[in-house]
Amino acid sequence: MDNLITQIREIFKDDHINTEDIKRVLEAYKSNPLDWQKYAHFDPHKYTRNLVDIGNGKYNMLILCWGPGMGSSIHDHTNSHCFVKVLEGSLLETRFSWPDPDKSDEPMQETDRDEHPINGVTYMSDELGLHRMENPSHSDNAVTLHLYIPPFEHCQIFDERTGRKAQSAVTFFTKYGEKVDYRGSKLGRTFTLSSSSATPSSSSMSIMNRKVLFAALVAVILLVGVECARKKNRNRDKNERPRNQQDNEEENRFESKDEGRAERREKPEREREKFSNKNEQDEESEEKEEDKNKANKTANPKRIRRTQHIHRLDERVAEDSDLKTRKLRRNNNLLQQGGRHREDNLKRTKERNTKEVITESVKGQNQKDKHTHTHNTNRRLRREEKLKRTKEVNSRQN
Ligand SMILES: [Fe+2]
Repeated sequence: MDNLITQIREIFKDDHINTEDIKRVLEAYKSNPLDWQKYAHFDPHKYTRNLVDIGNGKYNMLILCWGPGMGSSIHDHTNSHCFVKVLEGSLLETRFSWPDPDKSDEPMQETDRDEHPINGVTYMSDELGLHRMENPSHSDNAVTLHLYIPPFEHCQIFDERTGRKAQSAVTFFTKYGEKVDYRGSKLGRTFTLSSSSATPSSSSMSIMNRKVLFAALVAVILLVGVECARKKNRNRDKNERPRNQQDNEEENRFESKDEGRAERREKPEREREKFSNKNEQDEESEEKEEDKNKANKTANPKRIRRTQHIHRLDERVAEDSDLKTRKLRRNNNLLQQGGRHREDNLKRTKERNTKEVITESVKGQNQKDKHTHTHNTNRRLRREEKLKRTKEVNSRQN
C-alpha cells in the first residue's frame, strides 16, 4: 500500500494529471490484505469509508468496507474523478442517467450494470452519470479502494423511485487507521482503534495534541477545584469544632508549654532559673497585654472567651511557678542547713581528735616522767643502802 501511495503521489507532482496513468498504476497493483488490512474497519450496520491518504490536498484515497449485501445510495461525485479498485470480494456497480429536471417524481433510468471482480478497476465521473455501488454477496465481505480527484466533502444522493435528490456529507469511519469521533465536532476527531502501525499525518497528530491538551487542562481545573473544596471543608470543620475540644487543645498546648518550663526550671543553677523565670514572667505579661489589646480590638465573643481562658491558664501557670519556686528555695535552705550541720560535726570531731591526741601525748609524757622518777628513786635507794652498808662495815672495822 505504501508503494501504491508513493506511485500515486508521483503522478500528482505535476499540475497536469493523466487519468490513464492513474488507472494503469491501480491495475498494476495486486491486492494483498497485509498491505491494506490496517485501514479496513467494518461496521455491522453500514458500509464504512476509511481515509488512507489525502495526497497533499489533491486527492482522497479511501478504503471502503462492505458487509454482505451492503450498498450505497445513488450518488454523484461533485465534479470529481472517481477511480475504484476491488481489493477483496466483488463489487456490483449500477449506473443511472441524471434525472430530467423537467420531470418530477419519475423513476430514474438505469444505463449500465457491471460486477467487478477482485483487482478490477473502474472509473466514474459526473459526465458519465450517477451510480450505486454494492456488495452482491450475501455471505462474504467486500473491500474496495477509491481515489477521488479532487477530494470533496459533500455530494448529492438520489431516490431511485422519484429522482429526488438531497445533500449528503462525506464522512470517514476511520482516518489513517484510527477511529473518528464526530461527537461535538463537524470535522471529527480520531482515536486509536487498535494497535495499528499506521502513522497518522500531521493533521491527525494536531488533533491528538489538542485532545491531550484539553484533557490535561480539564484535569488541572478539576484538581484545583478539589483542592479548594478540601481547604474550604477544613476551615469549616475548624470553625465548627466543639468548644470543649478547642479548650482541651488549648490546655494540652499550655500543659506541654508548662512541662517545658518546668524542665528548664529544674536545672540546678539557681541564677539561671531566676533569670529564666523572670523572662518567662515578662513574656507572659507581654502576651497578656497583647491578648488584652487584641480582645479589646475585636469584639468577637469566641475570641473574648478564648482570651479569658488563656488568661486563666496563664494565672494557673504563674501559681504553679510560684509554688515550685518556693519549694526549690526551701530545698536549698535545707541543703544549706545540712551543710552547716556537717561542717559543725566535722569541726567537733576534729577538736575531739586533737584533744585525744594531746591527752595521749600527755599520758605518755606522764608515764615517762613516772618511769624516770621511779628509776631515780630506785637509784637513790640503792645508793643510800650502799652507803648504809659501807657505814656499817666501817663501824665494824673500827
Ligand atoms: Fe461513487
